[in-house]
Amino acid sequence: MKLLLSSTVLLVWLNASAQNPVSIANKILPNQSHREIALIPEPVTLTKEKGYFILPQNIILQAAKATELGQSITFLKKKLGIPTGYFINSAATTKKTAHIKLVLTHKNDSLIGAEGYHLQVTPKQIIITANKPAGIFYGVQTLLQLLPKEIESKQKVKQVNWEVPCLSITDYPRFGWRGLMLDVARHFFTKEEVKQYIDAMVRYKYNILHLHLTDDEGWRIEIKGYPKLTEIGAWNVKREGDFGTFIPPTPDEPRNYGGFYTQEDLKELVAYAKQQFVDIMPEIDAPGHSLAAIASYPELSCTADAVNYKVSSGAQMIKWAGSTPIASVDNTLCPANEKVYEFLDNVIAQVSKIFPFQYVHMGGDEAPYNYWEKSPQIADLMKRENLKTMAQVQGYFERRVEKIAAKYGKHFMAWDEVLEGGVSENAAVMSWRNIKFGVEASNNKHKVVMTPTEYTYLDYMQGDEVTEPKVFSTLRLNKVYQYDPMPEGADPNYIMGAQGNVWTAQIYNIRTAEYMTWPRGFAIAESVWSPRGRKNWKNFFARTEQHFERLNIAGTKYAPSVYDPIFNVKRTANGRLLVSLSTEVEGLDIYYSFDNSFPDQFYPKYTDSLTVPIDAQQLRVITYRNKKPIGRMISMPIEELNKRAPKQNK
Ligand code: ACM
Repeated sequence: MKLLLSSTVLLVWLNASAQNPVSIANKILPNQSHREIALIPEPVTLTKEKGYFILPQNIILQAAKATELGQSITFLKKKLGIPTGYFINSAATTKKTAHIKLVLTHKNDSLIGAEGYHLQVTPKQIIITANKPAGIFYGVQTLLQLLPKEIESKQKVKQVNWEVPCLSITDYPRFGWRGLMLDVARHFFTKEEVKQYIDAMVRYKYNILHLHLTDDEGWRIEIKGYPKLTEIGAWNVKREGDFGTFIPPTPDEPRNYGGFYTQEDLKELVAYAKQQFVDIMPEIDAPGHSLAAIASYPELSCTADAVNYKVSSGAQMIKWAGSTPIASVDNTLCPANEKVYEFLDNVIAQVSKIFPFQYVHMGGDEAPYNYWEKSPQIADLMKRENLKTMAQVQGYFERRVEKIAAKYGKHFMAWDEVLEGGVSENAAVMSWRNIKFGVEASNNKHKVVMTPTEYTYLDYMQGDEVTEPKVFSTLRLNKVYQYDPMPEGADPNYIMGAQGNVWTAQIYNIRTAEYMTWPRGFAIAESVWSPRGRKNWKNFFARTEQHFERLNIAGTKYAPSVYDPIFNVKRTANGRLLVSLSTEVEGLDIYYSFDNSFPDQFYPKYTDSLTVPIDAQQLRVITYRNKKPIGRMISMPIEELNKRAPKQNK
């Protein structure tokens, strides 16, 4: 018996615990086996002690400065109250007997800073101490992870031993910027879905949600004075399949797919996030990625044909010549047009009022220059401002936007491309293309958030493309876990932290956004919170598996891709395909078939490279652990292996 008590024992326990919550602990617990402690992110120090604290049915929650700790009190009441069905009394009390005490320090404890905490659990009491309310809140998150997984239930759960192992933890984050980016432009996610996303990130001590609010496929924020942004710019034609390969819509197809947030919606989201110590950073992507704005107001473009433009529905519009984007539709705001700056002034003024966060992200990525190169307006601007290259034209644009942001009291942040045309030292940079840009920027005294594609792009596939929703690149959990946000050679004073980016071109709904975020979001959470020396893949994965169970109960989707095998194929000298299989995690058995049937543990077990039979059409594989299926049934077409195999075995 692990967590469940028999109903008789439970009854006795409930009666007893109502009268005396603490003494019962020692009667029941010594003979029970207990859960392993599985915290994500791993705390700075943790010392296990003997015994358990058992939640009583009447929990007395005492907060020293209740007015300042309202967020944690509300949160705890909900999170503890619903699954346990217990009563939580948080009326101001100075009783020494309080079961859970939340304490703000009188004298600053410099070790734990503004977000750190101490958590002490004894058989009699749980005490969370912090300098600031945020620290208390993170201590509360840790406390919830110490309770049985059923604490994530949205309904009352019976027959759970609501115990917390005795221990003492001191914990604080490695980085102040612990972010996730959700692209709500490529596909729209409702206000309630964004709240659901915030609820999940809070468990892992993330503190920033970057909302990518505008792109070629949609403008998602109401801007007063520019009604067409949401009447026209928020809607396209629904397409499903492989984004970027869609058939361009015909003029008569309804443009009714999408949506937008009113300013009131966004204020509600900001308040909801803040309640849980998450700041929302808005991104208005400019000058590139602006087709939705241009389809609404074609005068913002340098290109006369923009009057015929429509919001993108995912048909291909950018080709890449090396690292240079070449657009077949001009999706840029025109840097030579004063109306653009007037527009951005209005946008930033309103955005700044909605989002109190100190940074506004103004995009700056992937602006194609091929239309600017043909534009007489741009040629005039270059002459007037003595600009020699298109990167400098973009630099001129960015510096003007920076000034607008400053006018409204905001720090300007943008993707790393803006470094090329020159931005002021005050501009903060999100380093995505290559870690070296983040390193250089930090050495040039720009504040930097690290979000490199090779470690933190959560839109990439997590396993083989025969199983995963197809994207052009793969990023497995173990690689994400290797990430260290402090790059070698960087000035540590300027690296604010890191974030995972969930671009949603290929993500059509919130369940898939969750699937793409977790468990890779666990790995990033640990990289930005835990000391580098505390990271350990094997131990992390064991904890990850326990958190899978928590997410099952919470109803948050995650990817099981880490259990799926990795295919490698080569061609032998006589032209036969030779497949080798491996797994990302240890201790899995792989069973396979070439005969189109479904393998199980009575099928051949993979031990060494397999020569593909000449007539086989597919290789089916499934992973097991301890005689139980754990991976998904994967069907790999032999044709696909044939494509992947190098032509000659070298
Ligand atoms: C980006 O991925 N285009 C910033």
